[in-house]
Amino acid sequence: MRVAMIGSGYVGLVSGACFADFGHEVCCVDVDPAKIAALQAGRMPIYEPGLAELVAKNVREGRLTFTTALAEPVACADAVFIAVGTPSRRGDGHADLSYVHQAARDIAAALRGYTVVVTKSTVPVGTGDEVERIIREARPDARFDVASNPEFLREGAAIADFKRPDRIVIGAESEPAVDVMTALYRPLYLNQAPLLVTSRRTAELTKYAANAFLATKITFINEIADLCERVGANVQDVARGIGLDNRIGSKFLHAGPGYGGSCFPKDTLALIKTAQDYAAPIRLVETVASVNEQRKRAMGRKVIAACGGSVRGKRIAILGLTFKPNTDDMRDAPSLSVIGALQDGGAEIRAYDPEGMEAAKALLSGVGYAGDPYACAEGADALVIVTEWDMFRALDLTRLKSLLKAPVIVDLRNVYRPDDMKQNGFQYHSIGRPDGLDWSNYQSIAAE
Ligand SMILES: NC(=O)c1ccc[n+]([C@@H]2O[C@H](COP(=O)([O-])OP(=O)(O)OC[C@H]3O[C@@H](n4cnc5c(N)ncnc54)[C@H](O)[C@@H]3O)[C@@H](O)[C@H]2O)c1
Repeated sequence: MRVAMIGSGYVGLVSGACFADFGHEVCCVDVDPAKIAALQAGRMPIYEPGLAELVAKNVREGRLTFTTALAEPVACADAVFIAVGTPSRRGDGHADLSYVHQAARDIAAALRGYTVVVTKSTVPVGTGDEVERIIREARPDARFDVASNPEFLREGAAIADFKRPDRIVIGAESEPAVDVMTALYRPLYLNQAPLLVTSRRTAELTKYAANAFLATKITFINEIADLCERVGANVQDVARGIGLDNRIGSKFLHAGPGYGGSCFPKDTLALIKTAQDYAAPIRLVETVASVNEQRKRAMGRKVIAACGGSVRGKRIAILGLTFKPNTDDMRDAPSLSVIGALQDGGAEIRAYDPEGMEAAKALLSGVGYAGDPYACAEGADALVIVTEWDMFRALDLTRLKSLLKAPVIVDLRNVYRPDDMKQNGFQYHSIGRPDGLDWSNYQSIAAE
């Protein structure tokens, strides 16, 4: 089958490369000429493990191409995917659909023959109706259907997620559209990936419901972690104790600095807005979003407390900037709030991240960057682990201690064991595990 992928970012590029790898003929389109030029020259515009090899293989074998000119690939395509961004709209938190609507207008002008236009972007309920209306108005003669096919891949494991999904959700209401979509995903459902065919609105809502549920799970264990710290319990044991119950499940029960990234923050907000507009407010998710927002900055206060109540004039080393490991994505990363709170408290920040420093430079000011974790730690009054990159899991603790000005480590990802760290002479603070942190300090610091 022939596929045009409109938008070649984290989702479009991975989906396009994977569809090509299934044997389809794929053209990835983007409005960003620098991105397309990089891809045509064999350079990846993003960091995603395994992507460079997958793209190179499919380009070599003639199934994957890149262009800024949408008309021809759309005219030839059986399916045109819209995989453009849907960020939060400034001011009100609704999903900004301007990129999706623009893509629909561009596609409309180029359609030829029967085509399924598929929204892969995460879009609010009813967006498929609007995309259909835009195309129909521009091209009353066109033969097309609009389907919804939300994407569930995770950055950092995107290729495996796309190729071995827990499920594929297809919101399509005509037989030809369902036929095209099932043909596209045939290689996957032969491998027994469940394929759910639903109404378009159901598919659109399923994506938001999934993300809101996962965000709720994370926030739940984060609040339990706070309680663990107060009562002297261990959140990792609590998580295991509840997670072994199949009705709960063990995934997404890792306490940390709060969720970030390109999806959960904006998708929870967009769902909240949709629900309010339809007079069916989801108060649980409203609370989750607000608890999480406050938590990220509170992690800065936790570091200040670990430094004895003040970071003014102190140097803080930050390990990990991206919102999670194995990506260069800095969108809504907790590190941004943690660093902001520390800078407001008068700290000097030096940071290291294996892949995220380029993107971070555009979002942070006044931060120094180091070439490796040890250079980052040198002379610092405290070291904070914000993202659990594998390379931070087995640091040379003796070397680290000799480099730090004070042996203070705040581990916001529970990478290390409190006993080991104590034995190595560190004042070690983590999440949801008793560590003797002075709570009067934590609570009284008004950094903002
Ligand atoms: N990133 C993820 O992990 C993830 C996972 C599941 C779903 N999603 C959803 O997928 C969508 C895309 O997310 P992303 O992270 O890939 O975004 P992204 O910002 O990385 O990529 C979007 C791309 O679309 C391009 N674009 C914008 N308008 C265009 C147009 N009219 N024509 C062609 N290209 C255009 C942009 O230049 C950009 O390269 C969002 O709705 C997001 O919520 C993302």
